[in-house]
Amino acid sequence: MNNTISNWNGTDYRSIYLRQLKENPIYFDQDLNTWIVYSYAHCKTILHHSDALVPELPVNDKLNEKGRLLINKMVRLSNGEQHHAFRAAAMTVFQKLKNASTGQLLKELLADVSTTDGFDWVEVVAKQLPIRLILKGLDFDNEDSNYIAANLQSLARIMLPNKTERDIQLLNPVVEVVYYLAEKYACRLGLLTGENEMDEMAICNLIGLFIQSYDAGRGLLCNSLLNRTKCTSGNGTDWKKLVNETLRYDPPVHNTRRVAARDISIGGQTIKERDTVMVVLAAANLDDSVFIKPDEFDVMRSNNHEHLTFGLGGHNCVAKYFCIDMAVDVCRFIADNYPRIRILQKEFIYEPQLNVRLVKQLMVGLS
Ligand code: HEM
Repeated sequence: MNNTISNWNGTDYRSIYLRQLKENPIYFDQDLNTWIVYSYAHCKTILHHSDALVPELPVNDKLNEKGRLLINKMVRLSNGEQHHAFRAAAMTVFQKLKNASTGQLLKELLADVSTTDGFDWVEVVAKQLPIRLILKGLDFDNEDSNYIAANLQSLARIMLPNKTERDIQLLNPVVEVVYYLAEKYACRLGLLTGENEMDEMAICNLIGLFIQSYDAGRGLLCNSLLNRTKCTSGNGTDWKKLVNETLRYDPPVHNTRRVAARDISIGGQTIKERDTVMVVLAAANLDDSVFIKPDEFDVMRSNNHEHLTFGLGGHNCVAKYFCIDMAVDVCRFIADNYPRIRILQKEFIYEPQLNVRLVKQLMVGLS
């Protein structure tokens, strides 16, 4: 029986995870040449383990200087002492974020489409709202926000481990402009000190927030909307519970990677130094030692917030509360303004990435 997911389309990933949780909570996958960790307890151990490091991204010589600087200084890709410093820089940027109105932004995004006839929620809302909330919250003007939002898909290619010629062609010019813009606003926000290293850290981690918001934010807004249609009680629904149950049961991020800096003993096995590990957060969320009847979508379960979808330990997501609030506000806005939601497609096609599970298109009608 095949346990390796090579494509989300038509794959019943929950059955695979549930089977692996029972049969192989941690095992070495020969095909992928990596350890795969499924159980909640083992995922937790790896995420907290000081010898389980975030793997380095291979350096691509054709990436321009600003692109290489980004890779070197983004918190998401760093380890050890550097990670502490970069995380502090990312948190400082995040603390500057003012509350922008999700409802107002959503109104603006929906103004250009016929909500009743149907529109693609992915393009119109999910790819736009997270980045626009961040940009608005940091006082970016409309022109600069439009540039960043329009080019974020290209910018996010910086996280690809194996960049093609095409990726580099798209990335290089965008990184230059976004770096220039980020420096301008970092200065306005009082984030720059005049000390080169520190300033680069602030600028790169401001850009890092844009990049990190893209895939996962998009996926959360799609999955929340889809699960929102399962709740018939409208405004009586506890939106925060709905969003947390969505994050547990139907997460946008499925796994994250680590590499062993030394031998790690876990579950009677030894992960050898330099072995890589795939931590399947989405499987841990289905572990019946933590969640009763894990395969049921149950908004009312008492511990749905215990999911691992935002990671754990030193690298856990800096934006988790921001993301939950954003999705809750979207659910509330839709409930207040559009009593009827129609999902206008029966089948979904997914993006090819395997660390996240993202629908390519989500046609909806709101009335
Ligand atoms: C506005 C949106 C978001 C921003 C700005 C953001 C930002 C970040 C940053 C900066 C990190 C790196 C933290 C570190 O290494 O110390 C991170 C990690 C992470 N984020 Fe987010 N994030 C966002 C949305 C999300 C969403 C929606 C999810 C999942 C639903 C998510 C899941 C994760 C996970 C799993 C990690 C940990 C990765 C690991 O440990 O390897 N993020 N996020």
